[in-house]
Amino acid sequence: MAIENTEIHNQDHEAFLEEVHSFEFWFQSVEGYLAGHPHGVDPSTPIPDLEASEREALIATLSTYCVGEVAALDGSSGMIGFAPNYQAKIFLATQAVDEARHLEVLLHRLTELGVDEPQLGFEDRANRNLLAFRDRLLQFVEAKDWEAALFAQNVILESMEFAAFHSHMQNADARTAEMLAGILKDERRHMGFGENNLGRHLARAPHARARLNEIKKELDSLVLATFSDGFHALGLPASERPQVGRLYLETVARLGFDK
Ligand SMILES: [Fe+2]
Ligand SMILES: [Fe+2]
Repeated sequence: MAIENTEIHNQDHEAFLEEVHSFEFWFQSVEGYLAGHPHGVDPSTPIPDLEASEREALIATLSTYCVGEVAALDGSSGMIGFAPNYQAKIFLATQAVDEARHLEVLLHRLTELGVDEPQLGFEDRANRNLLAFRDRLLQFVEAKDWEAALFAQNVILESMEFAAFHSHMQNADARTAEMLAGILKDERRHMGFGENNLGRHLARAPHARARLNEIKKELDSLVLATFSDGFHALGLPASERPQVGRLYLETVARLGFDK
C-alpha cells in the first residue's frame, strides 16, 4: 500500500511538473498581463518628462538590464541543447521567449528615451561587473555544465534581477515601473524552475551543493559590485542601498542556497 501511495504521489508530481513546464501554463500566465499592453505598458500610461540627468541615468540602468536579458536569452536558449529531459527543454523554450521579449521591451523604452538604435550601443553603456557575470554564465553553458549553468542563470541572475527590478520600480517613472512589473512576473517563474530543478538535483546528488556554494561565492561578488556601481544610476536614496544587496541574498537563501 505504501509503495502504491508513493507511486501515485510520483505520478501526481510528474503530472504537476509537466503542467508547470508547458507552453499551456506559460500562455495562461502571460495572457493576463501582456494582452493589451504593447511593449509591456498600458498605452494610456503617459510618457513622462524627465530631467536630462534622470534620463541619462535611466538610459545607463536600462542598458545594464539589456545585458542581463541577452545573457539570459543566450543562456536559456543554449541550455535547451543539453537539458536533461523534455520538460526542461520545453520550459527553457518558454524562458527564451520571455527573455527575448524583455530585451525587446527594454530596447523600446530606450528608444522612447531618445536613444538612436539602442541595440548597437548598450554594452558600452552597461555595468562592467555584469558583463563579467555574463561571460562566466556563458562559459558554463559552453561547457554544457547543467548544474552550474542552471544555478548561475535561474538562481543567481534571476535573484539579482528580482532585487534590482523590485527596488527600481519603487522610484521609477510610471512607464518604466509598469514595464518592470511585467518582467518581474516572468522572472518569478524562471526562479521557480531553478529552485525546483536544482532542489531535485541536489536530493539525488547532495555532494554538488559544495560546488554550487563555491560558484555562489564567486558570483555574489560580481552581483554585489553590479549593485554598488548601479546605485548611483538607479537614483536610489542612500538609506535604501543596503536593502538591494540584502534582498538579493535573502532571495537566493529562500531558494535554498545560503550556505
Ligand atoms: Fe528576463
Ligand atoms: Fe529570466
